[in-house]
Amino acid sequence: MSTQIVQVKKVTTHQLQEMKNRGEKISMLTCYDYSMAKIVDAAGIDVILVGDSASNVIAGHETTLPITLDQMIYHASSVVRAVERAFVVVDLPFGSYQGNSSEALRSAIRIMKESGAHGIKIEGGLEIKESVLRILSAGIPVMGHLGLTPQSIYKFGTYAVRAKEEAEAAKLMEDAVLLQECGCFGLVLEKIPAELAKQVSIRLSIPIIGIGAGPFVDGQVLVTHDMLGINKEFQPRFLRTYADLHSIMTDAFKNYIQDVKTKDFPKEGEYY
Ligand code: KIV
Repeated sequence: MSTQIVQVKKVTTHQLQEMKNRGEKISMLTCYDYSMAKIVDAAGIDVILVGDSASNVIAGHETTLPITLDQMIYHASSVVRAVERAFVVVDLPFGSYQGNSSEALRSAIRIMKESGAHGIKIEGGLEIKESVLRILSAGIPVMGHLGLTPQSIYKFGTYAVRAKEEAEAAKLMEDAVLLQECGCFGLVLEKIPAELAKQVSIRLSIPIIGIGAGPFVDGQVLVTHDMLGINKEFQPRFLRTYADLHSIMTDAFKNYIQDVKTKDFPKEGEYY
């Protein structure tokens, strides 16, 4: 069955909801800087996530835990300056909301005020209910994130698929329903069985965006550096790579080094 794809000038939470309603899949990618965001936005992506995966991809940390609120704001403001069409969501980083709901609201307001982003994403369910409600009551769109929540990696102990067991699956469904009832405009489900993600997408009316959660959800998100094949070390089953930028960039750098060493660059016409 073909789905109608409606061209929109600027993506809003309202339009994301309409995409789900008419069965148009939502495309989402991460961005952390101006130049990449400009290309991704112009290509027509629906949602740009300024993910705390910047901690891994940009800063080279092993986990997402070290990245700070100030650093997220720096990345987010760079992205927002480039974007004309996409809806920009920013992760609340570890340590910026877990203390209490006032701290969570303060962090969310800082992101919105200092970066110009359009909404925030937050990891967790029942345990962050008060924070979600408080942020929403300030008029800030909130996206939930359940399943593999990388900020809890030391609790999980592994990046393996979550919610395979009945009890964890039931808790995830309860949390998903709760986040919708709170007023979240969407939900990311990371690395859970496709059948569970399907059940959540059917039960909830808000858009469900999956990463490693199968095809039966309302949209997909990938980390841009991963789908571009920049990072050769990260190759999970769910990742489809659309380019081999690692090879393309390596060749370009090698050619440049060679040209400099052999005095081929710069040539006449390439200087003043
Ligand atoms: O930080 C991130 O990039 C994310 C995605 C993996 C969903 O949260």
